[in-house]
Amino acid sequence: MKNNSSPFNRRHFLGMAAGAAVISHRAATGNPPAGTHQESFSFAVIADPHCAEGPRAGLEGYGDGADKLLRCFENMETLPAGERPDFALLAGDIHPAALAPHLDKIKTPLHAVAGNHEGAPESRGLLRSLFPEDFGSGADQRDYFRFIHKGVHFIGLCDAGMGGEHVGQFSSELITPPGQCDWLEAEMAIPGTRKVIFAHIPPALDGGDRNMYMARNDSRWFTDLVRKTAPEMLFFGHLHRATEEYKIGASRSVNLRSCCWNFQEAPIGFMLVRVTAHGMEVQEMITGEYRPKQ
Ligand SMILES: [Fe+2]
Repeated sequence: MKNNSSPFNRRHFLGMAAGAAVISHRAATGNPPAGTHQESFSFAVIADPHCAEGPRAGLEGYGDGADKLLRCFENMETLPAGERPDFALLAGDIHPAALAPHLDKIKTPLHAVAGNHEGAPESRGLLRSLFPEDFGSGADQRDYFRFIHKGVHFIGLCDAGMGGEHVGQFSSELITPPGQCDWLEAEMAIPGTRKVIFAHIPPALDGGDRNMYMARNDSRWFTDLVRKTAPEMLFFGHLHRATEEYKIGASRSVNLRSCCWNFQEAPIGFMLVRVTAHGMEVQEMITGEYRPKQ
């Protein structure tokens, strides 16, 4: 639902291609319980930056993958101070070796999860080393984690296993430590907290055996857990399509467009989320559009 009365919903076209859209709406359901105290804040979600990729046909003017990721943060810097995100979630397919040289330019704190492009021990290890606060170090290294910001639990999951497999899974010899499903069930059982889940590969809502989604049994277990425990929002990447929002039980779930390239020439961009005592309001920020074909 459009809500243009909020200053958060003003259109922000700074640094964007002409004609780019900002898409925003407020949740009709999934809001926190009445009377919940919540200090308002914003966070960003960025999917599939593919930092190591060169300029893409139709998007040459925006540079390479790293340039297009940095463009997201430049866009955030232009927002009024009260609307700037406190941090950004990176929902996988990051290419950590190509991100590392640019990290000092990014002032927004980052929380990353692995994608299938971090499906080898070298790239997974480098990703972990770039974000030790979330991934830990030494014997305490983990590919899934929770951090708490202003009382909201943010749960980063790893559903990208060994070898760059496009089908998602919660168990793999590359995902450490074993036991992610048990851990998530325990996290979701914590009562009285607002929860946000983010991961790379989305669930197959029909529980089918389909490429580009979590595997059949992972999808069935995961969507069942979400229906039972009702996290407030979920975010996924991986599909490289225009953003879509849908429901899993009472929870709002988003498959987010890439900030690097998308199928069907869908514009590139990221998402801002405003958290208040009344719910979570999302706003897509379009950072580039494909050049029209001659
Ligand atoms: Fe992916």
